[in-house]
Amino acid sequence: MRTPLIAANWKMYKTTGEAAQYGRELLEELAARRVSVTAGEQGQPGQVAVVVCPPFTALAALGSALRGSPVALGAQNMHWESSGAYTGEIAAPMLLDLGCRYVILGHSERRQMGETDEQVRRKVQAAAAAGLIPIVCVGERIEERRAGQTESVVTRQVRAAFQNLDAAAAGRAVIAYEPVWAIGTGEHASPEEANRVIRLIRDTVADMLGSETAAAVRILYGGSVKPDNIGPFMAQPEIDGALVGGASLDAKAFADIIQQAEVNAA
Ligand code: PGA
Repeated sequence: MRTPLIAANWKMYKTTGEAAQYGRELLEELAARRVSVTAGEQGQPGQVAVVVCPPFTALAALGSALRGSPVALGAQNMHWESSGAYTGEIAAPMLLDLGCRYVILGHSERRQMGETDEQVRRKVQAAAAAGLIPIVCVGERIEERRAGQTESVVTRQVRAAFQNLDAAAAGRAVIAYEPVWAIGTGEHASPEEANRVIRLIRDTVADMLGSETAAAVRILYGGSVKPDNIGPFMAQPEIDGALVGGASLDAKAFADIIQQAEVNAA
């Protein structure tokens, strides 16, 4: 059984002070709700895993606030080289140095700015080699959806990202299916539709790396997830959690989502 994972993607929001405050508040809210968060990727039945991904500049402040807690720290991007003349970039060892365990890669907001499948592949490989858990984002744009290309786009992105990854690294990885038209729009995929695409993603991983790896990989839904709509997503058999943007900025709302996930986990 896969332990549900709820991930917060703050995008380009919050200062160091706000991040520290949020960290304290989130731990208080989780304690008040008696939510059992596992410190590892695989917890006991009834537990949930949680990661918060702030901007690079707030990693240290949030990391201090969360220290000693089971809530993990993650980044929103990284470069594939481990050091070098790459002005403005951040490398995996720097993220590990700040206590990161996860890193979001290939988010559609980055792909829209020109990040390619090939770059995502290099980043995924570098993250896995460094011991970071990649959260690989895939999803179709609205025009691709209208053209009936959802399956082909998502399959292409998964194949590119997982190419050359060994089964052990792939089994630890996380994939987030985020239809681009559902991000920040208030419009979300139906839980059944998300489950169908996520099943297809799992089948793609099985085809590449075998059914054992496919059964281990955690696949999340992302796109306008809120406290009042997370339940039906978590009740779907293939959906292992959520990547939450807007609603994760408020510690109370994010704690509500985590609590709902724990209650509704299939
Ligand atoms: P949203 O963002 O929850 O605000 O739609 C999700 C994401 O971008 O990961």
